[in-house]
Amino acid sequence: MLQGRSLIGPDDFSVAELDRLFELTACIKDDAGYLRQSCRGKLLAALFFEPSTRTRLSFEAAMLRLGGGVCGFAEPGSSSASKGESLADTIRVVSSYSDVIVMRNPKEGSALLASRYSSVPVINAGDGGHHHPTQTLTDLVTIKHLRGDFSRLTIGFCGDLKFGRTVHSLASALSRYVNVKMVFISPGELKIPEYITQTVLGKNNIEYTETDRLEKVISDLDVLYMTRVQRERFLNEEEYIRLKDSYILTAKLMKRARDKLIVLHPLPRVNEISVEVDNDPRAAYFKQAEYGMYIRMALLASIMGVV
Ligand code: NCD
Repeated sequence: MLQGRSLIGPDDFSVAELDRLFELTACIKDDAGYLRQSCRGKLLAALFFEPSTRTRLSFEAAMLRLGGGVCGFAEPGSSSASKGESLADTIRVVSSYSDVIVMRNPKEGSALLASRYSSVPVINAGDGGHHHPTQTLTDLVTIKHLRGDFSRLTIGFCGDLKFGRTVHSLASALSRYVNVKMVFISPGELKIPEYITQTVLGKNNIEYTETDRLEKVISDLDVLYMTRVQRERFLNEEEYIRLKDSYILTAKLMKRARDKLIVLHPLPRVNEISVEVDNDPRAAYFKQAEYGMYIRMALLASIMGVV
């Protein structure tokens, strides 16, 4: 079904295709031997033009666990981009060396462009402040495993909703499920872009509210999705410093939340979740990162057509 397909945006796969990926992820998580060696002889090219820990390493670990190989770079300064090579030329060449390309790039739209020049599937590992669909797969599978399904879900997104690509992708993906409510919690300067509220949520009739006060809404939430203020996307460092500690989730604030709240964060965390919250059973962000590797195994095996 997903064989040979690229993943550029959060809606590229149907809800049924996502369900299949979630099932595969559960099998992989429960059985360490499942799909091992299924990608033997396949090569993943990981092209990271921006910093990454989890996304790059979980993709590499996923391909290695499937028995495939990995090549690429984690530092654009070591690639010919630093000599002025166009992305189109880099992709044309790398796609002749590999079976699938995973790319993170600071330019919005770069993944779509790459997919047009590539002879192999391209997976978007983050294109600027736009989208990050494999983080969304990770987020969805974590909610699915911890909660069972997405129906009647009230999710709060908190922090930098303007530049946070993980928020844009997850809000878009969740808008395809019924009875999902969204609460957007941010300072006025970092509000969710209108293309998400007007186009994506509006089109799907998703009920949403916007506020700048986390403490006022935390008790209404089933899932709280915390995010870092995206320093690298600010044009003005002073503005970043002024906004960076807008929200800090503390043990005290958690006392107001439901017993069944699920706290997610794509990571890296800076200050927005106090470390004392890590021991709260409702904190699921490290488990979420682990799921990220399992679902990337499911994704790669599916795209490679070995499952
Ligand atoms: C996120 C990203 O790169 O957008 N990180 C990740 O992939 N887990 C979130 C972030 O950097 O804040």
